[in-house]
Amino acid sequence: MPFAKEIKKRRTFAIISHPDAGKTTLTEKFLLFGGAIQTAGAVKSNKIKKTATSDFMEIEKQRGISVATSVMNFEYKDLNINLLDTPGHKDFAEDTYRTLTAVDSVILVVDCVKGVEEQTEKLMGVCRMRNTPVIIFVNKLDREGKNPFDLLDELEEKLNIKVRPLSWPISMGSTFKGVYNLYNKSLYLFSPNKKASDEDALPISGTEDPMLDEKVGKYAVQLREDVHLIDGVYDAFDRDQYLAGNVAPVFFGSAINNFGVRELLDTFTEIAPPPGDRPATTRIVHPSEKNFTGFVFKIHANLDPKHRDRIAFLRICSGKFERGKFFHHVRLDKDVRFNSPAQFMAQSKSIIDEAYPGDVIGLYDTGNFKIGDTLTEGEDLAFKGIPRFSPEIFKELVNTDPMKTKQLDKGIMQLTDEGVAQLFLQNGGNRKIIGTVGELQFEVIQYRLLHEYSASCKFVPLSVYKACWLTCKDQEKLNDFMRFKSSQIATDKDGNVVYFADSQWMLDQMIKNNPEIEFHFLSDNVT
Ligand code: G4P
Repeated sequence: MPFAKEIKKRRTFAIISHPDAGKTTLTEKFLLFGGAIQTAGAVKSNKIKKTATSDFMEIEKQRGISVATSVMNFEYKDLNINLLDTPGHKDFAEDTYRTLTAVDSVILVVDCVKGVEEQTEKLMGVCRMRNTPVIIFVNKLDREGKNPFDLLDELEEKLNIKVRPLSWPISMGSTFKGVYNLYNKSLYLFSPNKKASDEDALPISGTEDPMLDEKVGKYAVQLREDVHLIDGVYDAFDRDQYLAGNVAPVFFGSAINNFGVRELLDTFTEIAPPPGDRPATTRIVHPSEKNFTGFVFKIHANLDPKHRDRIAFLRICSGKFERGKFFHHVRLDKDVRFNSPAQFMAQSKSIIDEAYPGDVIGLYDTGNFKIGDTLTEGEDLAFKGIPRFSPEIFKELVNTDPMKTKQLDKGIMQLTDEGVAQLFLQNGGNRKIIGTVGELQFEVIQYRLLHEYSASCKFVPLSVYKACWLTCKDQEKLNDFMRFKSSQIATDKDGNVVYFADSQWMLDQMIKNNPEIEFHFLSDNVT
């Protein structure tokens, strides 16, 4: 197949949600439609179960399983779809944020009973940073949820995006009748004990069609009013606005009942973007360029202490990846090749010979990669937009076995290269501060240092509210600030200056009193 066609048929996206909104269920339905799995329940093992929150080994075991489902590839309507999985557990949110840098669009699942939740807002914030096109799926319509108009208002307000309903629910909960597709004017009827199928779409000429009264009875009146209101309030759907990340089309349904899912998938394949341009340090990279480029956005370690190998997940941005061919590792300035690049699917993995822009492949790694690394065919460039986020919990790493200092140093370097947590250094590197988004990571680090590097440590909590990166055009001013606040200054692993604020109030004061200094909450803006 010609190269341009290969690119055009790729769709690379992620399904994201606050835990429990229905991400896993929806993922599973998509895979069933794509023929990638045959039975329901196949991706359930990927979910980190709620009961396991205090048992991180169990979680790691489950994460181990989830490597296999990190990227799910399936074909649907002649398209080659890469669905990138994101961990549901909030302590692994940074993994999710990074995965979002590797997709071209997103489906956001919202629970109609709970509306916009904490994690929904955070995830959407990450999408907004890159203007990633977003489709919203309002799930669990078989339950008594919030009024759909109120939900749309909540979505717009809390997620800071305009919305445009493309389907509309006819009642909900125990009287849920189905959805009316505003996009192609068809009616989908819901019956709780029957799985939805293609034949369930009833083409009607519009809301005035008498068939509507026949099928949904008294609920037709409400639907007509609602549709009238929608047409008056919301602009017609504009795909360009969606692609620019300005408008999110909204669908309603019930993932567990497979209801509204096919419509969602069909519309997704119609409107979601193929791989697009990617900004790099020196220029914009176009997917159709002949030369290969790609970047690492996720590293997954093998927990088996006997095999310290890791899998680096690489998103291809341009050109063709070929097995066994030498590529240039830009940061290390050396050429590397991969004899067994893998593609993952549900529970299995296969070795691939070639891959195209939009594809994500797993590369076996013995410690050469860190998050954000770029591979090219020799060109010296690095992809932008793979930031580190300001962590939320901070602890000092204390070595409890001085005989194993070297092992500890090596271990913490490697673990933080993987993106497990962030490392900040003070006193010329003698004081090590670990920043994470979740408590669980500290347990993971302690366990892995001991089992993989034979190093023991403990963590001392610090009362740091936030870490932010500092830059200033006037180096003298920055030096003055660093002297003035020396106990709250550190460097990250790349030598960038970081300030630890102990409260929001203090941070606000510092920003106000030091107008020449820029405070960044993403590392990406620093370099
Ligand atoms: P997540 O990946 O976003 O965390 O959510 P997941 O799909 O696991 O769904 C969370 C719970 O919500 C599951 O129930 C799931 O069955 C249920 N669910 C998903 N879609 C719908 C829907 O359309 N309607 C209703 N009523 N429930 C839905 P659970 O009891 O936590 O898990 P399980 O025992 O069913 O696996």
